Amino acid sequence: MVRGRSGVNHPLPPMFTPISVRKPHLKNRVICSPMATYMAQDGLPNDFHLVHLAARAMGGAAMVVAEMTCVSPMRGLRRAAPACGMTRQMNAWKRVVDFVHTHTDAKIAFQLGMPDAKAPPDRDGTPLISPFKPAIGL
Ligand SMILES: Cc1cc2nc3c(=O)[nH]c(=O)nc-3n(C[C@H](O)[C@H](O)[C@H](O)COP(=O)(O)O)c2cc1C
Repeated sequence: MVRGRSGVNHPLPPMFTPISVRKPHLKNRVICSPMATYMAQDGLPNDFHLVHLAARAMGGAAMVVAEMTCVSPMRGLRRAAPACGMTRQMNAWKRVVDFVHTHTDAKIAFQLGMPDAKAPPDRDGTPLISPFKPAIGL
């Protein structure tokens, strides 16, 4: 129950009730969806990403999902998107994840960006990394 301004008690809105999604137990149902910011350099998440994600985590979201993150380090290099294909990129993510885990009780995830079989063919020397083989010769 939550006490309203009028002094009347109301049931807790479902949004603020806990939920388990398989293993992770979320303290509420407020999940910050991934938002591409294109603020990475060399595919490295930086202070911008730390503040962007940690602010929402500190603000009470049960989970924050970092923006589309390239599995190919080179894709991240080109488009100012963060990447996770190099050790130094993963170390930069670890800094963000450790901060969120140390200072908040939120969960943190990132969205893997994979071009899939629908991706355009390699035009600029960046190899296509995909779990799927194109059914037709792209
Ligand atoms: C600035 C911005 C960047 C976004 N970037 C991503 C992204 O990287 N990956 C994704 O799946 N969705 C992205 N979205 C979509 C959001 O995650 C969300 O699904 C969308 O805004 C709909 O939610 P809403 O109705 O609460 O705004 C982005 C949205 C915004 C506004």
